[in-house]
Amino acid sequence: MPHADRNLAPAVHADRGLIQERASTMQDRLIVGLDVPTLKEAEKAVRELDGVVSFYKIGYQLAFAGGLDFARELASGGTRIFLDMKLLDIDNTVAKGVEAIARMGMTMLTLHAYPKTMKAAVEAARGSDLCLLGVTVLTSMDEQDVIDAGYEYDPHTLVLRRSEQALHAGMGGIVCSAEEAEAVRRIVGPNLAVVTPGIRPKGSDHGDQKRVVTPAQAIRNGSSHLVVGRPIVGAADRRAVAEAILDEMRSA
Ligand code: C5P
Repeated sequence: MPHADRNLAPAVHADRGLIQERASTMQDRLIVGLDVPTLKEAEKAVRELDGVVSFYKIGYQLAFAGGLDFARELASGGTRIFLDMKLLDIDNTVAKGVEAIARMGMTMLTLHAYPKTMKAAVEAARGSDLCLLGVTVLTSMDEQDVIDAGYEYDPHTLVLRRSEQALHAGMGGIVCSAEEAEAVRRIVGPNLAVVTPGIRPKGSDHGDQKRVVTPAQAIRNGSSHLVVGRPIVGAADRRAVAEAILDEMRSA
């Protein structure tokens, strides 16, 4: 089993310390996925969640609807932003993208956990505060989806293999299902962020997510951060749902 601190670039290591330190309250550990179609909707959601949520994830949908400037604006006011770009390209293109994103003041950035891609990204982020997260296997994929994508591993094995590769590449954390968080934590050690989407409070709609876990169980499984999108953003009373999820996380 690899040692948690082996092969870590100093800048990424320092940043991981920062992430851990900042993530000392449950509020710091809840990341709300701003998966909404317009800037107006995003601004409304952030207003409604003011004081309850302080960490947002911006992905494809909002990024291509003016969300990148909004991300910069929120970050400059002290709100933490996880830019979910799931980068994958040739090393040089990924490196140039990471350098540009590092200058935007983002807290977290995702890329697919391919060893060469991760190494290029870690090199490019060196000296910045950006925490790089490796996406292992999407939480919307089950065993058949992974076979259809041409992999010879089952999702669990693939997640563990990619977690080990992320650790060796010097990444700041892993994105995986909270079902796998316990096993991933054993591989990556206590310092890396283990960020888990696919969170569903009891009784809520699963949507396209297949490997889902409740907020309390995700915390018990060793997640450092929970990503919650539709259960909060799609709710009539977003603030009440976010508060209920935070209560459930605290109860764990
Ligand atoms: O709405 P929901 O809670 O399912 O949102 C989860 C968010 O996390 C989505 O924005 C999705 O793109 C993202 N995500 C995921 N699985 C991953 C990585 C990111 O669901 N492995």
